[in-house]
Amino acid sequence: MKFETIHNVTLPKIGFGTWSIGGDSYPDRKLDSASMTALRSALEIGHTHFDTAEMYANGHAEELLGQAIRDTKTKREDVFITTKVSPEHLDYEKVLKACENSLRRLKMDYVDLYLIHWPRMGMDLEAAFRALNKLVGTGKVRHLGVSNFKMKHLRQSQEFSETPIITDQVPYRLPDKEYIENGVIEYCQKNNILITAYSPVKFRNMRSNQTIAAVAKAHSATSFQIALAWLVMQPRVITIPMSFDPQHIKENFESAEIELTKEELETLNKLY
Ligand SMILES: NC(=O)c1ccc[n+]([C@@H]2O[C@H](COP(=O)([O-])OP(=O)(O)OC[C@H]3O[C@@H](n4cnc5c(N)ncnc54)[C@H](OP(=O)(O)O)[C@@H]3O)[C@@H](O)[C@H]2O)c1
Repeated sequence: MKFETIHNVTLPKIGFGTWSIGGDSYPDRKLDSASMTALRSALEIGHTHFDTAEMYANGHAEELLGQAIRDTKTKREDVFITTKVSPEHLDYEKVLKACENSLRRLKMDYVDLYLIHWPRMGMDLEAAFRALNKLVGTGKVRHLGVSNFKMKHLRQSQEFSETPIITDQVPYRLPDKEYIENGVIEYCQKNNILITAYSPVKFRNMRSNQTIAAVAKAHSATSFQIALAWLVMQPRVITIPMSFDPQHIKENFESAEIELTKEELETLNKLY
């Protein structure tokens, strides 16, 4: 595995996402067994960064993640847990309450990284950060970050946060350059903020694109691994693919070791 270190925080280039673990917007108990298998595989393969949110399966993803960590007897300090507060909870009291609820579901006494999941029209970002700063002060949260924030809100967050903003978690994958075009990725790279690329392999033509397939063949890898390696090769970028399939989980984890050549990177950059 390769790592990024920022403000004394070290994170693996590839972590594990949990959207659809335990259900999508609501808990779906039929998925519990497959979800636990996926989480256990991820832990056994060596994943140490897990990304979840109060919104995922309406809290059930957090419950299952906490359970998998306890079941595998993984030490709390050996994993880095990111979770997120939902946009509807962005005021002082609700942020504090949302964090309490996440900790109760995870059965943990702190989270490593707490993100604002999405900005909301008319939100009081300053009040939300007063609560977030308090959570850091009381030790319930180690670090703060944001998600889906464009430049204006990202800069405001830096202003309101008493501790460095560790990451902006944004959609970033081979065909999706929105956050390059809006300047966020370059700003983060220049200002010591990690870019957490979400939904890294979720795009049309992922399987069928012949250019990605040719690069994959040259590395005896899969196209999914090349899409991840393209992110891993970029400074200050980490990513958090999700999979239910233990074989895919292994392949995704191992894709951090793929070294793409300059020519391959140029080809992939020009692809979309
Ligand atoms: N902050 C936000 O607003 C936000 C939004 C979306 C996502 N996220 C986070 O980012 C994480 C990842 O994004 P995502 O779950 O949307 O999409 P993703 O990880 O890009 O794609 C997941 C899908 O790709 C398949 N897949 C993964 N690896 C594969 C492989 N090696 N070979 C074949 N198929 C593979 C999975 O199917 P199988 O199960 O069959 O492998 C699954 O259907 C989420 O879980 C969540 O933690 C955050």
